Amino acid sequence: MKLHKHLILANWKMNPGSLDEAKKNINHLKRGAKDLKRTEIVICPPFPFLPFVKPDPKKKIFSGAQDVFWQPTGTFTGEVSSEMVRSIGAKYVIIGHSDRRNLGETSEVVSKKAGAALLAGLNVVLCVGESERNNSGDYLEFLRKQITTSLFGIRKKFLSELIIAYEPVWAISKSYGSGEAMTPSDIHETTLFLRKILVEIFGKDWASAIRIIYGGSANAENCQAIIGGGEVDGLLVGRESLNPENFVNLFKAVDVIPL
Ligand code: PGA
Repeated sequence: MKLHKHLILANWKMNPGSLDEAKKNINHLKRGAKDLKRTEIVICPPFPFLPFVKPDPKKKIFSGAQDVFWQPTGTFTGEVSSEMVRSIGAKYVIIGHSDRRNLGETSEVVSKKAGAALLAGLNVVLCVGESERNNSGDYLEFLRKQITTSLFGIRKKFLSELIIAYEPVWAISKSYGSGEAMTPSDIHETTLFLRKILVEIFGKDWASAIRIIYGGSANAENCQAIIGGGEVDGLLVGRESLNPENFVNLFKAVDVIPL
């Protein structure tokens, strides 16, 4: 039996386009999450909408940011700190998403942000994933380097607040058109590899506290197979989380999976 509930995060990216729409979606998800038993939902909207995902006293829906800076305050125009995000009730932050890495964020920067966010008391969802795969197995070396550098300096005492989101970039839905999720058996194989690296970095006992989730074209139809067959602790969901009906169907489907 797992120690934690299934963790399902909604990564809204830079959507929706207005506060009215965001509020409508949040209310829909709150109603849908009312009877969840084995699942924890985290809504990660753009910063301006974050205060509107009010902490839920029944602990079924939480809020999270999509990024933070590594300093608490200061002359960093345009940046937002972990402390600010925490002060409005958010519990999670996504760090190192491939959208941000595509904009130039390096694994060195990711490690600084992750370290600062953990220190500030946030749960960190740290994204890793290869852009392409071929039969040569080069992607394994890529993943090893990316995860090792992204976790540089992370203290062991924070590992139970660290979640690795394995998101093969090639499986993430494009804005228009359908992405295809990785197969559950490939997800399982790759997350075993990631777990091995985590054990190498932190040792077996400490590494066992780290949760691993999957992201990339997850939906209501494939979520049970991915969590069951992929043996992951949850999902990071992009496109399907923007459609409230689909997202409610997804997390209800996940909720029936035994822990
Ligand atoms: P997707 O996105 O579910 O739309 O593939 C996942 C992500 O980018 O986090």
